[in-house]
Amino acid sequence: KRELKDLSIDPAVLDILSLAKQKNYETVWDRLERQSPHCKFGSSGLCCRNCVMGPCRITEKTPKGVCGADAATIVARNLIRALAAGAAAHSDHGRAVAVLFNEVAQGKNKDYQIADEAKLKSIAEKFHIHTSQDITSIAKEVARVALEDFGKQDEKALNFLEAYAPQKRKETWQKVEEALFSQTGKKMGILPRNIDREITECMHRTHMGVDNQALSLLVQGVRTALADGWGGSLIATELQDVLFGTPDKKVIKANLGVLKEDQVNIIVHGHEPILSEQVVAAAMSPEMQEKAKEVGAQGINVAGICCTANEVLMRLGVPVAGNMIHQELAIMTGVVEAMVVDVQCIFPSLGPLAKCFHTKFISTSDRAAFPEAVHIQFDEHHAREVAQKIVETAIEAFKERDPQKVHIPQEVEEAVVGFSVEEIIKILGGSPKPLVDAILAGKIKGVVGIVGCNNPKIKHDAFHISLTKELIKKDILVIGTGCWAIAAAKAGFMKLDAQALAGEGLKEVCKALDIPPVLHMGSCVDCSRMLVLAAALADYLKVDISDLPLVGSAPEWTTEKAVSIGTYFVASGVPVHLWPMPPIGGSEEVVGILTEGVKDLLGGYFFIEEDPVKTASRMERIIMEKRKAF
Ligand code: SF4
Ligand code: FE2
Repeated sequence: KRELKDLSIDPAVLDILSLAKQKNYETVWDRLERQSPHCKFGSSGLCCRNCVMGPCRITEKTPKGVCGADAATIVARNLIRALAAGAAAHSDHGRAVAVLFNEVAQGKNKDYQIADEAKLKSIAEKFHIHTSQDITSIAKEVARVALEDFGKQDEKALNFLEAYAPQKRKETWQKVEEALFSQTGKKMGILPRNIDREITECMHRTHMGVDNQALSLLVQGVRTALADGWGGSLIATELQDVLFGTPDKKVIKANLGVLKEDQVNIIVHGHEPILSEQVVAAAMSPEMQEKAKEVGAQGINVAGICCTANEVLMRLGVPVAGNMIHQELAIMTGVVEAMVVDVQCIFPSLGPLAKCFHTKFISTSDRAAFPEAVHIQFDEHHAREVAQKIVETAIEAFKERDPQKVHIPQEVEEAVVGFSVEEIIKILGGSPKPLVDAILAGKIKGVVGIVGCNNPKIKHDAFHISLTKELIKKDILVIGTGCWAIAAAKAGFMKLDAQALAGEGLKEVCKALDIPPVLHMGSCVDCSRMLVLAAALADYLKVDISDLPLVGSAPEWTTEKAVSIGTYFVASGVPVHLWPMPPIGGSEEVVGILTEGVKDLLGGYFFIEEDPVKTASRMERIIMEKRKAF
């Protein structure tokens, strides 16, 4: 049994956890303990449930499933199914944005507008769409190319990948397809043709008796991941920027201390800003603020959790109550009137937990139902109306708040956030040159992108923060997204003061640019921003992404989405660190392909390391090696 202090480095979390212990509230850690030790077949990827001749488990004595599938086939099949689910999550989010954007362009939805015409024009230029036309005509054409990527049936690569990926990388992918064909005699496509099609094809190939060879399966996994990174996620990010504004530099507050005892607290949790932007707008309206006063509150305070938090903090400066693991703890503060959710990373435990409080746990998406939730159906065509209803429900709940149960941790940190690629380039004076010069001069040795989740198996935020600290000390600029970004914000690494923790070179550059040494680039779909930044550097230097001193990491990864993200970075030429170990240990062949075999083909590869200090050293070695080639 782990002691409390081994569960998180965040004092606010430890504070609420001791309260939970005292009051007997159940948390994610309690359930993890009950589920441990985990099934070894599941953890190594050796359990197959893909047909009912099974389920089959692979051991030394039973090396084949009933159908004859071996360890490599089963492990690879399981992995790409997980990857397909992750790519589906990002891309279904992207589709919703594209569909809405199209409706706005067609004049069929008045609850949303085009907020950033400059961004729309810059996207249009990438597709050689005339920008001299009126805005709605440009928007219609951009919507068409985006929607086409979800539905076109030809063999050509995605429109977005063609328009955004750097030239050299596209040549690499072409060469990889040719090399695989000449080595194996089998056609193995890497370039994604249609986002939905690649996900569907993963499901088809992993059906019993279709694709039964690890390499062939993994290549389809790579293609699906590319459909996410340079497709679904990128479309989500780009069109959200057009609809809601491209993020710029701003200061926000982070951690549970942002909750306010004298206000109606609404937490937005999940992923899609289509909902959260409207909730924030409704809450800020004078009418709703007035209603809150009528029930005795001083006002309405909206805070975010998880990636929804990242979306609204990047664009609107809304405070963040915490990352994924804070979701249950926020309710336990006793001051949350409503926890409003849409999709992804939302624990089904929240419904029963909310019942112990006055908190309304409000689900909104037709794709996601939860036990014991209040469902208020969100509809983009009546977005304002629904958002208002949600806020009114929260205001009503304020009356039921039990002062005996109020316990707000005091922890709050400040963070400078909002580093979209556009904002970074603006800070650099209009071109990537100053950053490239700083890298060439060795003031910045390289860049590491850290992404992803929290995992209760790992001390919460500990790997994120130790790794970040080690890297900036070594003059390595750290950028990232998702729950890592929230961890870094809470730990004070995104304050300008954090420059003091950086090595001399990085410190000098950050001082000159007035930025922290650790840059918040947004939500998980915004990992696409890191691809776009890498592409800008590669194109500027006329090299491939794999030539750049870049490394990626998902140090506390949890979700299937992270499998897809890690893979599209590897496929884009970036070495990627992972911890914990993914469920592939059951096949040496699969481990070999992903950690070694891919290197020669794609330039990127995975490596596994449990220790943050050793991870940072290994990243530095990789970066120094890449620098030699410059
Ligand atoms: Fe077993 Fe093969 Fe069926 Fe999987 S697909 S459950 S290995 S028989
Ligand atoms: Fe996320």
